[in-house]
Amino acid sequence: MAVPLRTSSQVPSERLEEIVSGEDRIEELSDSELGSEDEYEDMGTATPEEQANIAYLESVWIPIAENLQTSTSKTQDETLKVILPFLEGNPNEFPLNSHGISQLQRKKHVPYLEDALDDYPSGFAMMDASRPWIIYWALQGLTALGEDVSEHQRRTAHTFSLAQHPEGGFGGGYGQFAHLACSYAATLSLATAGGEVAYESINRKTMWQFLGRMKQADGGFTMCQGGEEDIRGAFCAMVLLSLLNLPLELPKDAPARQSGLTTFTDNLGEWVSKCQSWDGGISAAPGNEAHGAYAFCGLGCLSILGAPKETLNKYLNIPVLVHWMSSRQCSPEGGYNGRTNKLVDGCYSHWVGSCWSLVEAATTTGIWNRAALGRYILAAAQDKKGGLRDKPGKRSDAYHTCYNLAGLSAAQHCYVYDEGVNKGLGEVGLGAPFRWKVGRVYHEDVVWDANDVVGKIHPVFVIPFRAVFECRKYFEDKEGF
Ligand code: FPP
Ligand code: ZN
Repeated sequence: MAVPLRTSSQVPSERLEEIVSGEDRIEELSDSELGSEDEYEDMGTATPEEQANIAYLESVWIPIAENLQTSTSKTQDETLKVILPFLEGNPNEFPLNSHGISQLQRKKHVPYLEDALDDYPSGFAMMDASRPWIIYWALQGLTALGEDVSEHQRRTAHTFSLAQHPEGGFGGGYGQFAHLACSYAATLSLATAGGEVAYESINRKTMWQFLGRMKQADGGFTMCQGGEEDIRGAFCAMVLLSLLNLPLELPKDAPARQSGLTTFTDNLGEWVSKCQSWDGGISAAPGNEAHGAYAFCGLGCLSILGAPKETLNKYLNIPVLVHWMSSRQCSPEGGYNGRTNKLVDGCYSHWVGSCWSLVEAATTTGIWNRAALGRYILAAAQDKKGGLRDKPGKRSDAYHTCYNLAGLSAAQHCYVYDEGVNKGLGEVGLGAPFRWKVGRVYHEDVVWDANDVVGKIHPVFVIPFRAVFECRKYFEDKEGF
């Protein structure tokens, strides 16, 4: 077999080799009439690592191509052209691990995320309402990289004490209305930083009242007063109720009481069930298109409601969900897309990749290629300047850094639901998510070395295990609100 050449839109086809060879070929291609003057670049013979990557890619390439071209298929082909050089070679010139894949660039990603916690230029003013998210992504990403973030306890508590609404919940900043997404991100940030000052900065009583106003008669939750009711709301509310150990009874003045509901969990499983779409995925609200980010919210919500084996099997059709999830892994890229016929994107490494931890607790093993996901994250999603990204050609940002690392963690560690874990914690009131532990480290066909392994991340709360257990314990030990 001939030594493979690096794939590139510029590499000559076998037919061209046959009809024009060597020097002549370069002259031919320089002909401006061919319009390829700038396109041809002799990339030379592949290195042994590149040869191995090319052989791997050939082995996972889907052999049958659809002839019909659409704008979607053209975008997919163009995207693949941009990504392939990163899967075959090493355009970033990162040091390679023992599998010939880029090492995890911790020394670039840590300062990148620390920088995300600093000041922003004025152009970022429009991101003001996303401030809790940026803090969460940065703190969570840092812990995934093995950093201790406890030095941020006071600063995090101060930032969010200003964003806390007097009537409960958190907004994006001072004076902003409370919103469930901001409340979720702020609370996870405070729990990740940890410590009494951070925990005590949360007004749990008004948070409970705010959640009571979000609960709807059909079982779901709105994101804010008068706002959209979707599965993010259901997940965020359950995270807050469980992590902060809030009472499950609805406050006396909760509007849903007028429809006969008495607890936060009334009709919730049934509402999530209605979000499973015809193709098996989970959508934002009943009748919408399934999407990976909403699938994670739905599975996370049900995994807080009870043991995944019970709740996932009760409220979802698992075989068809597994089919939809496995169809999200792109070949040959190895990363995930978020919905049918869309492009691979590093953030779905978590939104879809981490769904497997939850689904595997409800059924037999998942149908996913952990190594292929690791390959996409390490080879294609790392940015030379630090941080991780959607795909080559896109800039890194804190969101994609956080969720690429969370997906890498899901691929590298086997998270296991075990009723025997943490006896004495979460015995009443949404205690299921405290039953998770880390099982074996995944080692079959891996493409990472020990130095490329990221931290263990709680599969439901997406913060470190220690942060989850300490936060819940703190509030279980506390009398009243
Ligand atoms: C589509 O974007 C993205 C969505 C429809 C979902 C976004 C939702 C989240 C990220 C989940 C938030 C989670 C919580 C816990 C609040 P797109 O059309 O730009 O991307 P695509 O082409 O990849 O679908
Ligand atoms: Zn993305």
